Amino acid sequence: MRVFAFSDLHVDYAKNLNDIHALSDTAYRDDALLLAGDVTDDLRLLEETLVTLREKFTRVFYVPGNHELWDRRREHGHALLRFDAILKLARAARVDCAPARLHGTWGAVWIVPLFSWYRRPGEGASSLFLPKRSEHPLQRWADDRFVRWPHTLNAQPADYFLSLNEPAIRAYAEPVISFSHFLPRRELMFKAPGTPRVSRLRDPHPGFNFSRVAGCSLLDAQIRRLGSQLHVYGHQHRNRDVSIDGVRYVSHCMGYPRERVSGYLQPNAMAPICVWRCKEQTRYASG
Ligand SMILES: [Fe+2]
Repeated sequence: MRVFAFSDLHVDYAKNLNDIHALSDTAYRDDALLLAGDVTDDLRLLEETLVTLREKFTRVFYVPGNHELWDRRREHGHALLRFDAILKLARAARVDCAPARLHGTWGAVWIVPLFSWYRRPGEGASSLFLPKRSEHPLQRWADDRFVRWPHTLNAQPADYFLSLNEPAIRAYAEPVISFSHFLPRRELMFKAPGTPRVSRLRDPHPGFNFSRVAGCSLLDAQIRRLGSQLHVYGHQHRNRDVSIDGVRYVSHCMGYPRERVSGYLQPNAMAPICVWRCKEQTRYASG
């Protein structure tokens, strides 16, 4: 059994959905997939995608991203009810959203899904916020329109999701691979210093400061308490493979078709990559 990583499928784009259906029906038969959120906000399409991937992989592990919590059709009373409905949908598709032990002839590994949200500037030191000179203060963020938190939520969303992870945060006797949708560390927003550039692309959104909504460093504290060797994440639509203080962090986003065409994502972004027990390792030099 190998372990593959993938995120940000955004199957609302027909091209992306077609690419998922076109993945081999035989190549991943013995493998597990970590799906790190942002499949779609259309729950019918989410179900179709999870069922399709589950037919191709022997195990699929999944955490929702921010797009899944967009409730544009007002199907749920609030975002946490929607989150629960999504986990129920995943379980019905035989997709795992809880820790599980995988084993093969090579030994065993624990997969630990971590739920997460971002912490904004002004919401504490664990925000990943960094100032950006070209930022436009009137830029609107779609989560603010489409994600409706309940009035009864007396914690920040980031803290609420971190608290859901706590029962799984313990010492494991075997290697641990964790994954989340959001970023656990500020450094991951940037390519590693000293790595060669594959392209010289301009910032496509100079007025948008991604670090406002990137993630939360308390997530990294959970990753460290788990003793995770490898952490897979999504959200930023820039692919990464970097080791920091003993943990390897990998992001492999399918992203939007235009991001693949224009070179912001590598051409291999339309299929998952192997991150564990691979014959060949895929390494991103930059992104
Ligand atoms: Fe995304």
